[in-house]
Amino acid sequence: MTASNRQYLLAQRPTGALQENDFTWTESAVPEIGPDEVLVRSIYLSLDPANRGWVNDVATYRPPVGLGEPMAGFVIGRVVASNRDGLTVGDIVEGDGGWQDYAVHGAEAELHRLPSADDLVARMSVRGVTGLTAYWGLLDIGAPKAGETVLVSAAAGAVGSIVGQIAKIKGCHVVGVAGTDEKCRWIVDELGFDGAINYKTENVLKVLRQQCPDGIDIYFDNTGGDILQAALFRMNQGGRIVCCGVVSQYDTAKPLPGPHGMPGLLVVRRLRMEGFIVMDYDDRREQADGDLAAWVADGRLKYKIDMIEGLENAPRALIGLLRGENTGKRMIRVSEET
Ligand SMILES: NC(=O)c1ccc[n+]([C@@H]2O[C@H](COP(=O)([O-])OP(=O)(O)OC[C@H]3O[C@@H](n4cnc5c(N)ncnc54)[C@H](OP(=O)(O)O)[C@@H]3O)[C@@H](O)[C@H]2O)c1
Repeated sequence: MTASNRQYLLAQRPTGALQENDFTWTESAVPEIGPDEVLVRSIYLSLDPANRGWVNDVATYRPPVGLGEPMAGFVIGRVVASNRDGLTVGDIVEGDGGWQDYAVHGAEAELHRLPSADDLVARMSVRGVTGLTAYWGLLDIGAPKAGETVLVSAAAGAVGSIVGQIAKIKGCHVVGVAGTDEKCRWIVDELGFDGAINYKTENVLKVLRQQCPDGIDIYFDNTGGDILQAALFRMNQGGRIVCCGVVSQYDTAKPLPGPHGMPGLLVVRRLRMEGFIVMDYDDRREQADGDLAAWVADGRLKYKIDMIEGLENAPRALIGLLRGENTGKRMIRVSEET
């Protein structure tokens, strides 16, 4: 156990793009636990675009992080002290541990115990929130059929790269939208997407006509903004738009208004546009995990980790994620697994 608990606290609410000085670094004594509490030492910290929304003074699917509080974040860690029934020292758990070395969780805190022999990196990516988001969003809301065309944005990111591969497993024609030529090459050459569009250098609507000649049946929307706008015009009758996230609009004080053609296009093309939060499917996790683990094991589902070393790098790593620095799942190694 290190002698101190290093933390990033939310110092101020960002007024535009996130800045490193929106957070303050502190070091204090490792906390003691009380009755029914458990102390968890962080091993891996997930960085997620949604973290940016949590620092606004607006409730999302969770309350906003309070000023002066540790920044929230999804953590896989090890129990180092426990007064809580069902958890013992050495257990590996996942939950909202925040940007800190040690978190005290009360009896009411949601902690999910993982098998100790698990591949923890996979549990934070392809077999964790990332993989489950891709799985349920695509399969439950998108409901793909073999031969359909699937378009996915932020396609070289954590969720998008998994969505495209699951769509290929289901026999679809898959096109991804990403922000660099290198990312576009990776999703086609390594992950087996049928096509890719660099939204920073190409006219997305124009290239969609070539890459999706039969139109789009499912648009898995990770970005909103201009890519959603372009996809909307290419949707086929009966198409589904899976609203997973709006990363193009998180890091700004002036989000764009919704796309043109709404709701008229939904009406005339009989489109369904539906949002979801991965936690909605918590009670069906085992089913998804069985498929994801099997596809990883048989080589049909690949995943890439963008590991950042050290808690001290969390603010700049999140800022970089929002700017598209990452390929695959960005996470932080806070401490060693053993
Ligand atoms: N609904 C849920 O339960 C749920 C759960 C997890 C994640 N999500 C959502 O899923 C989406 C992807 O999350 P992730 O964790 O997999 O992150 P990620 O895709 O690994 O990282 C974010 C990516 O977004 C892209 N991006 C940034 N600004 C953009 C812009 N203006 N236009 C287009 N692309 C932009 C960047 O790639 P480029 O180089 O391509 O720009 C960046 O790499 C996010 O919207 C997130 O909020 C939803």
